[in-house]
Order: sequence, then structure tokens, then C-alpha cells
Amino acid sequence: MTSDKLVVRLGARSYPIHIQEGAVELLPRVLDELSAVGAVGVVTDTNVAPLYGDRVAKLIEASGARVHQCVLPAGEEHKRLAQVEHLCGEFLRAGLDRTSVVVALGGGVVGDIAGFAAASFMRGIRFVQIPTTIVAQVDSSVGGKTGVNHPLAKNMIGAFHQPSAVVIDLSFLKSLPVRELKAGLAEVIKHGIIADAILFSYMEEKVEAILAGNLNVLEFPVRRSCEIKAAIVAADEREQGLRANLNYGHTFGHGIETASGYTTYLHGEAVALGMHAAGVLSRNLGLVNDAFVERQRACIASYGLPVSWPEIPIDSVLDTMKHDKKVRAGTTKFVVADEIGHVQQRTDISLSQAREALEALRG
Ligand SMILES: NC(=O)c1ccc[n+]([C@@H]2O[C@H](COP(=O)([O-])OP(=O)(O)OC[C@H]3O[C@@H](n4cnc5c(N)ncnc54)[C@H](O)[C@@H]3O)[C@@H](O)[C@H]2O)c1
Repeated sequence: MTSDKLVVRLGARSYPIHIQEGAVELLPRVLDELSAVGAVGVVTDTNVAPLYGDRVAKLIEASGARVHQCVLPAGEEHKRLAQVEHLCGEFLRAGLDRTSVVVALGGGVVGDIAGFAAASFMRGIRFVQIPTTIVAQVDSSVGGKTGVNHPLAKNMIGAFHQPSAVVIDLSFLKSLPVRELKAGLAEVIKHGIIADAILFSYMEEKVEAILAGNLNVLEFPVRRSCEIKAAIVAADEREQGLRANLNYGHTFGHGIETASGYTTYLHGEAVALGMHAAGVLSRNLGLVNDAFVERQRACIASYGLPVSWPEIPIDSVLDTMKHDKKVRAGTTKFVVADEIGHVQQRTDISLSQAREALEALRG
């Protein structure tokens, strides 16, 4: 199989992103290029293991390596430090060493936990991402942010640790529950808003085919999202500037996710709410007009994503936002839009301006 790959350009730490239907078949070659021998730790979850665990194990064995599968409980509520300790124990028992490779097979939760375990085990071993959700294919598998949640704040404990390769097999999306598919599309809409008006228009036009899971139609938004993220990460790996643009909708969204206990909304759904709040904030700042807010709202809603939370506990959302990693010296950085395809970062947003934007979510 030939590969149609992108590259995240980070000097010696550059890595390929292989994107196509059936890309998982490239795994033996990918592992061969990494000279992965001995034990490979495959980290997956209780939903993905029965679907794709055996197929991936066979492909790894075909590369001459031995597979040790670690199955984590599925769900955001399990994205905890305890799972990292558990994985390190599994890796030790399986005989992984500094030359070993970990394969993360699953959604963003698996990728974030497995990536952080790989970053920490023996002070850092290599890992390969095989993302199986839209969120993971268009966002979390690329860029090297790994980590787990703390009860007080999301993604608070973690490390930058780039994967050695990303293998995006679009056919994995066929088994994805429709709610998860929709949630992931929030991140694609975000990429359109922050960097590409053409991508945004495509998302407006192709709602039906995308929601039907048509892989031919989904390929462009997945690939374009990876291109956008790869370019941003290559320019600003450690989020000193430009990379924070990817947080559009996320400052509000993380507050919403944490305040709702990680169980009411999926990550992408919280981001959808957060983007609507960020759109309202942008309008209140005079950067965009009502038509922008309505166009963004309509696009988000057309994918069945939430744009209102009538009972939103605004005080606790604002409170949890104070613990956000984007807070520096007590100042929260907000990403706001000035047109479709372009955003800016602001540190001059008052608490009452943030509150007013959240109030718009009451509906
Ligand atoms: N590291 C980053 O840069 C980054 C970026 C965005 C999001 N994230 C993180 O990603 C997480 C969300 O990721 P997610 O939405 O993929 O959630 P997830 O990993 O919980 O996956 C969603 C659900 O789908 C199931 N699943 C996964 N693939 C499947 C498939 N192909 N078929 C059927 N079921 C499948 C999972 O078991 C899970 O129940 C959040 O924790 C978020 O913070 C990280």
C-alpha cells in the first residue's frame, strides 16, 4: 500500500501522518522504520479493544515484534493519573525498555494517557498514535500534547511528547457512535474558524454526507485539519504564541467540561458551547457582527451540537476557568474571532465580559 502522508516538521523530531482508508495496514512498515523490536505496548480501551485490538496486534506481530495489550476503562472520567501508574506497571511487566514503542489505539483519552505514560516511562519512550475517533484524528493525535485530568482542572498534568508517527485510518470511523462523530466535528469547525474559511464553508455545505459517515467526504476535513494543526505545531510547538489559536472555544469549553463533572458533555460538545460563547464575546468586543455569530451558531447546530445550556452554572464555570492552563499571572488568555478563518488572542477580557458571553448560552 502506498502512503499519502503529511509531515509535522520539527527537525529531528519530525514525524509522518498517514491518512487514508485502510492506513492501519501500513503499521508493519511504520514500526519497521522505527526499528521496533521486542515488546510493543498497545494501549487501548474497553470499547476499541474488541473492535480493532486483534487486527492491530496481528499487524504488529507481522513486523516481528511481540504485543502486550493494555486495555483501559473507556471514558473521560478515567483520564486520571492512576491510569498512568497502572500502564507503567504493565510496561515493566511486559519487559518494555528505553528502545520500546507504545501504540495508542483509540480516541483522545487513550492517546492522551498512553502518550503521557510513554513520556514518563523510563523518562520517555517512543509512541505511535492510531486515532480512532474524529477528535483524535483531527486534533489530539497530532502535536504532542499528552496528559491527564486533575479533579480541579482538565489536562492539568502532562507533558509535551511528540509521537513518532500518526496512522489515521478513516475506516475506523465507521463504528464510531454518531454522538461521538458529531462531537469530533466541533474541532473541524474550529479549524475552519481559526484558519480556513474554505474548510468552514465545506462544513456548512456537506452536513448530510458527513453525518452519514461518507468517508470520501470526510477525508478532506480530516486531512485539512491535520495540515492546519501540523503547520501551527511546527511554528510553535510549546504554545508560546500561535498555537494558542487552537484553543478557540476551549477556555470556555474546558470550564464547562470541568464544571459539569466531565460526564454531561463530551469534549467536542463542550467545545461547541465554548465556541458559541467565544463568538458572542468576539461580537461584544466589536470584532465581528451578529451575522458571524449566527453563521457559526447555525453551522455548529446543523451537526446536532449544543449551542445552549439553559441551566449553566456560570459561577462555577468561571471559577474553573481560573485554573485553566492558559492562565498566566492571573490573566486568562481568550481566543476571539475577527472573521471566519482568522482569530486573535486577548488577555484584556474582564470577568464581566466573560460572564456576559456565558450568559448567551442560557438560550
Ligand atoms: N492532546 C491534545 O492535543 C488533545 C486535543 C483535543 C482533545 N484532547 C482530548 O481528547 C479527549 C476526547 O477525545 P475523544 O472524543 O476521542 O474521546 P474518547 O477517547 O473518550 O473516545 C470517545 C468514545 O468513543 C469510543 N471509541 C473510540 N473509537 C471508537 C471507534 N472507532 N468505534 C467505536 N467507538 C470508539 C471510546 O471508547 C469512547 O467511549 C479529551 O480528553 C480531550 O481533552 C486532547
